[in-house]
Amino acid sequence: MKKDVHSLLLKKKRGEKIVSLTAYDYMTARLQEEAGVDFILVGDSIAMAVFGEETTLGADLDVMIAHTKAVSRGAANTLVVGDMPFGSYERSDSLAVKNAVRFLSEGGADAVKLEGGNSRSVSRAEAIIDSGIPVMGHVGLLPQSIKQAGGYKVVYSDKRDELFEEAFALQQAGVFSIVFECIEEELAAELTGKLEVPTIGIGAGRYTDGQILVVNDMLGLSGDFEPRFVKKYIQLDSIILEALKKFSSEVRDGKFPADSNVYHTREEK
Ligand code: KIV
Repeated sequence: MKKDVHSLLLKKKRGEKIVSLTAYDYMTARLQEEAGVDFILVGDSIAMAVFGEETTLGADLDVMIAHTKAVSRGAANTLVVGDMPFGSYERSDSLAVKNAVRFLSEGGADAVKLEGGNSRSVSRAEAIIDSGIPVMGHVGLLPQSIKQAGGYKVVYSDKRDELFEEAFALQQAGVFSIVFECIEEELAAELTGKLEVPTIGIGAGRYTDGQILVVNDMLGLSGDFEPRFVKKYIQLDSIILEALKKFSSEVRDGKFPADSNVYHTREEK
């Protein structure tokens, strides 16, 4: 049975951890569904992980919707959340609703995520929820606002009041869950305990209701990008590199294709 947004709340109530990863393509989504991931985020991190950009700011709405479609096809029974990219929801509530609808109607997503808990983001979240689309919030470090923030900065207790205010405003608006990005563990733990909605941490310590990582990072496909909060479960880049080198040398040495890889003249019947 397809997992929906209510399954996350149920997990929080039962004290069960929520498992999540980003995905950008059909095959990875298929494997994540098989592994039992609770929800998949088609993150705007696609700009960096797939397109090699420096920040997430260049994530394109049409491209994100196309990748959301691929992920939804690969994980038909898993909750899929489309990440609204920079520029797709800031201008007005009506633009936010229009673009959120595209994630569901064209991308096959079940919900959308947007960044921030200020009054503008809360208004966008309310409008999207009012149109019948579940929304996931995102507080703490906001990659779409790094130009304003002056870089990637961990959120510590000196920002406690602001963080609490934003998270509670999002909960009040009706979001079904909130991503906590790069928040001091003690602060994330305290806020998780006070909120009714599940919190999903990335760089927010051990006590959020769930964890999410960028799939390329945890598979060892992000080169020398090694922030403290990432754990590499495999070093796929060196495995892939070895296979690529082997293919190259076998082609050059005439070992590939072998007889078992070729089609021979068919016998006339
Ligand atoms: O786009 C993304 O990968 C994200 C994660 C940081 C949660 O938003």
